[in-house]
Amino acid sequence: MAQVHARRLGVGGWMRVVAAAGMMAVAGAGLGGCEEKEPAPGTGGAAGGGTNTGAPTEGGANRAVAPAGEGVATPTPGAGAPPSGDTIVIGHYGSLTGSEATFGKSTDNGIKLAVKEVNERGGVTVAGKKYQIRLVSDDTEGKPEKAGTVVTKLITRDKAKAILGEVASSVSLQGAPVCQEYGVPMITPSSTNPDVTAVGDMIFRVCFIDPFQGYAGAKFAREDLKVSKVAILFDQSSAYSVGLKDEFNSNFSKMGGRIVSEQAYTKGASDFNAQLTRIREEAPEAIFIPGYYSDVANIALQSRKLGMMMPLLGGDGWDSEELAKNAGAAIEGCFYSNHYAPDQPTEEIQTFVAKYKADFGGVPDGLAALGYDAANILFDAMGRAKSASGADLRDAIAATKDFKAVTGTITINEQRDAVKPAVIVEHKGGKWVFRSAVTPE
Ligand code: PHE
Repeated sequence: MAQVHARRLGVGGWMRVVAAAGMMAVAGAGLGGCEEKEPAPGTGGAAGGGTNTGAPTEGGANRAVAPAGEGVATPTPGAGAPPSGDTIVIGHYGSLTGSEATFGKSTDNGIKLAVKEVNERGGVTVAGKKYQIRLVSDDTEGKPEKAGTVVTKLITRDKAKAILGEVASSVSLQGAPVCQEYGVPMITPSSTNPDVTAVGDMIFRVCFIDPFQGYAGAKFAREDLKVSKVAILFDQSSAYSVGLKDEFNSNFSKMGGRIVSEQAYTKGASDFNAQLTRIREEAPEAIFIPGYYSDVANIALQSRKLGMMMPLLGGDGWDSEELAKNAGAAIEGCFYSNHYAPDQPTEEIQTFVAKYKADFGGVPDGLAALGYDAANILFDAMGRAKSASGADLRDAIAATKDFKAVTGTITINEQRDAVKPAVIVEHKGGKWVFRSAVTPE
């Protein structure tokens, strides 16, 4: 676990990202004319104030504004519109549409549940004053190039005091520098690439990072599956996929295994036959595919067609009900590492699953659980913060210790990351079931 920051795809890589987004952020501020000097929450008078009627703000077509209690059939006492000036806006940027749409939607649902609950409890108390939380969610379509604009809008127009998102590391890597530039804390629920929180002191996460996830996957492959020859098929366009591939490779090799082939694809490709045929020549006992669910479904189907019946292994990017829906029997007997499994019998998990089902109808995936956890950690921090200023919120989030979350007990470390166990789930008898837990060394 020592080399967490050793391999950050070239330090210059994210430095350039920061510089570019910084310029964009400054341009954005100029356009909006918003020199925010930390007005008292909700009193800013711009987009943030006066919108407590539940009516959408002046947003474009793809904006989703969720007033307190949205998605609930009957408004609950205490969740009604508070008087203007008693509201803190938080922003969520996520893939509400696009090829990873379940990532953004599940996360948004988890956040909405947390917002509803905190408002029902009377809101958050910051420095002795009570505020209701208002969530503004905006769509990135899962595209890194959209993140800067979306986050800038959330901060300058909607006056978000804190930002939640994104899921995909490549998208978070573009949104984080904007938050850092404006001094607005960001908590990514689920981006696992180490570079994301390395952007700066405003950037946090409530999930583990890929050096650990790579270790967990490799350990499972060696010690549980007992395989020694593995091939890798990864998405070269994704920071997450490239990073997790490297971590799995180095850990698996250290554990005495051998990576017999490394093949690349680009997100959205439809034909994986060339890569799979090369892999087949090496006769691996398993294939590690650190990609997102939409591509993985195609890969699973095409590998089986080529007569390759070995187990496929993956990381958290597999977490979507769409995977099994699209891959069907091709995904049976396959495994991936994740942040939680809804069939784990702990009280935190079962209570969350029941509440989520009541509001949204389905079983919450890991994204929903992490969205819920990220929002609750933010609210907890607000309650301890000296004020709702970016710097005070940052200090309070950084001080998070032993927070009992759905996905585990969360303490934010020096790198602003969470250190937590991973779970391995298995597709068995047509559904994903908990197989084992892997604890950090
Ligand atoms: N960890 C992935 C990334 O960093 C995102 C992800 C998290 C996807 C959890 C699914 C579930 O890109």
